[in-house]
Amino acid sequence: MVGVERIENQPTLTLNNGVTMPALGLGVFQSPPEETAAAVEAALRTGYRHIDTAAAYGNEREVGEGLRRSGVDRSEVFLETKVWVSDFGYDQTLHAWDKAAGKLGVDSLDLLILHQPAPDRFERTIAAYQALEKLLADGKVRAIGVSNFMPHHLERLLKETEVVPAVNQIELHPYFTQPEVRRADAEHGILDQAWSPIGGITFYPGWGEDRRSVMEDPTLLAIASQHGKSAAQVMLRWHLQQGRSAIPKSTNPSRIRENFDVFDFSLSSEELVRIDALDLGVRNGPDPDVARPERFDMPIPEA
Ligand SMILES: NC(=O)c1ccc[n+]([C@@H]2O[C@H](COP(=O)([O-])OP(=O)(O)OC[C@H]3O[C@@H](n4cnc5c(N)ncnc54)[C@H](OP(=O)(O)O)[C@@H]3O)[C@@H](O)[C@H]2O)c1
Repeated sequence: MVGVERIENQPTLTLNNGVTMPALGLGVFQSPPEETAAAVEAALRTGYRHIDTAAAYGNEREVGEGLRRSGVDRSEVFLETKVWVSDFGYDQTLHAWDKAAGKLGVDSLDLLILHQPAPDRFERTIAAYQALEKLLADGKVRAIGVSNFMPHHLERLLKETEVVPAVNQIELHPYFTQPEVRRADAEHGILDQAWSPIGGITFYPGWGEDRRSVMEDPTLLAIASQHGKSAAQVMLRWHLQQGRSAIPKSTNPSRIRENFDVFDFSLSSEELVRIDALDLGVRNGPDPDVARPERFDMPIPEA
């Protein structure tokens, strides 16, 4: 297809049920609906074949529109979305699939994950996951998983359900590397997927001026200049070389391209170790053990 680039050598990861997923995807959290279709179209034309959205982002419809506008066949794109907490519960989560698929305009999803554990309604979190298992058995999703699960959430989930999650999507960038969660994921064959992979949450506009932006870290900038790359590209390479999936968000076409231009260089093991050493051990996002009822109760509209 003219104008649509196929990157044959982009890295893929094999999930614990044998499904393959392009390691690098486009994230769309905080992508305004009116910019999302264009961002998705630009990403697919650049060569991305994996998009990560969520019911709670309010832009699944525009993700579907971007997919159709791009001219890339649905079968070539790995579509991932998330069930929001207000839709947790067995029947509610089955219906959350109808809402997501309806808005995206597709008849199957590649990966459906629980957006986060809900500590104040964990039994409904379990029931929601059991609904994902049913959707998997019925062929409505190709893989299922979780997000923001800490080891103790995983332990409980694994005790009460059958299918080991394929993916755990967690805050993961050089300033917060979550070794304990990654160890627990690895023990169970769960793939780590990095959200805020280039540290977006350390520099989101308006999220607190006192945050230390990982994008300006001197070690990363030094490594980037050695390779003639940007700090963002170095962070993405660090994820890919350590076997993780990463889903950088941008609505800017040139940054969308920049974030995909990471397959032509390699970091040395010494550079990987220097980046690992930047971990501050401090979470920037919400604590998954703290209930946020006002946020959790946000309703997800019908398709
Ligand atoms: N599961 C969860 O709870 C959860 C939480 C947060 C995020 N996520 C997922 O993870 C995705 C990515 O995380 P994120 O959006 O938090 O952060 P991110 O991808 O690490 O960073 C995004 C920020 O970086 C900017 N940016 C993008 N490319 C850049 C580049 N090459 N150079 C400089 N700045 C650049 C973007 O602005 P522009 O758009 O202007 O380029 C945006 O402000 C989300 O979109 C979402 O899909 C999931």
